[in-house]
Amino acid sequence: MFLSSYSVILAAACGANAQLVNPNNDTFGNVFNFWTKTTDGWDLTRGNATNAITLPLPFPKSRVTIQPASSALVIIDMQNFFLHPDLNGDPRGRAVIPTTIDMIHAFRANDMKVIWTNWGLTEFDLMSMPPSFINGFSSDGTSSTSFGSDMGTIQGNISVGRKLMRGSRNAQPFGDLFDEQVGGVANGTDFYFNKNRLSGMWGASTPMQTFLQDNLITTLFFGGVNIDQCVWGTLLDSYYKGYDVILVDDVSATTSPASATGMVDFNAQLNGWRANSTNILPALT
Ligand SMILES: *[C@@H]1O[C@H](CO)[C@@H](O)[C@H](O)[C@H]1NC(C)=O
Ligand SMILES: *[C@@H]1O[C@H](CO)[C@@H](O)[C@H](O)[C@H]1NC(C)=O
Ligand SMILES: *[C@@H]1O[C@H](CO)[C@@H](O)[C@H](O)[C@H]1NC(C)=O
Ligand SMILES: *[C@@H]1O[C@H](CO)[C@@H](O)[C@H](O)[C@H]1NC(C)=O
Ligand SMILES: *[C@@H]1O[C@H](CO)[C@@H](O)[C@H](O)[C@H]1NC(C)=O
Repeated sequence: MFLSSYSVILAAACGANAQLVNPNNDTFGNVFNFWTKTTDGWDLTRGNATNAITLPLPFPKSRVTIQPASSALVIIDMQNFFLHPDLNGDPRGRAVIPTTIDMIHAFRANDMKVIWTNWGLTEFDLMSMPPSFINGFSSDGTSSTSFGSDMGTIQGNISVGRKLMRGSRNAQPFGDLFDEQVGGVANGTDFYFNKNRLSGMWGASTPMQTFLQDNLITTLFFGGVNIDQCVWGTLLDSYYKGYDVILVDDVSATTSPASATGMVDFNAQLNGWRANSTNILPALT
C-alpha cells in the first residue's frame, strides 16, 4: 500500500471520529454497533425494529428487545461423550434436554437461528493440540486414552469411535438432540460448527464466528455443558468479540462444584444477561 493511501484512511478515520462518540446519552456504541437504553431495559435491535421481540429478563431494567434476524441460540457440547449414560455422561446434562428442545423449537418458529457447536477434531487438530488439553482429556492419566484414542464399543457391539473426533459416534449430539440437529441443519434453520477447544469462538476466528459475521448476528443465547467450561468459554470469547451474551440457566448444566456455576452466574450478568427459558418462551409463542 502506498503511503498516500494511509493518509487517506487516516483522514477518513479522523473525520469519522466525531460520530464515533454518540451525542445521545442513551446510545452506547456507534452507528456500526450500538445498544439503546430504554426506561426499563435495553434495545439491542441496532435500529431494525421489524418483528422485534421484547423479553422480560429477570434482572432490574432488563426488558430486553431483540431483533430475531440477528439473534441465535447457541447449544454447546450436548454430545454423547458428555451425556450418554454408557459413556459415564452426566445426568444433569441429560435433564436439560427437554427444555433445550423447547427453546430450539421456539427459536425456529421465530426465524431465529439455532447454532450447534461441538467438539469435532481433525488429524490436524491432534497435531496442534497443546499438552494441557491432552492431559485434561485423558481417561486414565496416560496420553493413550486422550483425544483421538479408540473408545471401543457400548451396548455390546456399537462402536463409538475415536475420542471427540469429527464424525465419530461419541461426538454426535446425544439422544433426541441428534435428530433435532440433523433435521434442523437439513431444513436450514440450524447450523453446525466443529470446535477444537472449549470455546467455539477462540483465536482470530472460528467457523462459528465467520458464520455470525456473514449473517450479521449480534445477540447470542447460550446453553449446554459444562456451564463453567465450554459454555462459559464460548460466552466469554463472544463477549470479548462484541456480541450480546445471554446465559440461559435452565438449558445449561455442569459436573463441577456449585462454586464454578456461582462464578459464571455472577459474571454472566455483568457481561450481559442471565435468564431461564421461562422468561423467554412465553414471549416467543
Ligand atoms: C448527557 O449527559 C451529560 C452528563 O450527565 C449532560 O450534561 C448532558 O446534558 C446530557 N446530554 C443530553 C443530550 O441529554
Ligand atoms: C430487519 O429485520 C427483518 C425482520 O427480522 C429482517 O428480515 C431484515 O433482514 C432486517 N434488516 C436488516 C437490514 O438487517
Ligand atoms: C449387535 O447386537 C444386537 C443385539 O445383540 C444384534 O441384534 C445386532 O445384529 C448386532 N449388530 C452387529 C453389527 O453385530
Ligand atoms: C423440517 O421441516 C419439516 C417441514 O417443515 C418439518 O415437518 C420438520 O419437523 C422439520 N424438522 C426439524 C428437525 O426441524
Ligand atoms: C433460573 O431458575 C433457577 C431455579 O428456579 C433459579 O435458581 C435461578 O436463579 C433462575 N435464573 C434466573 C436468571 O433467574
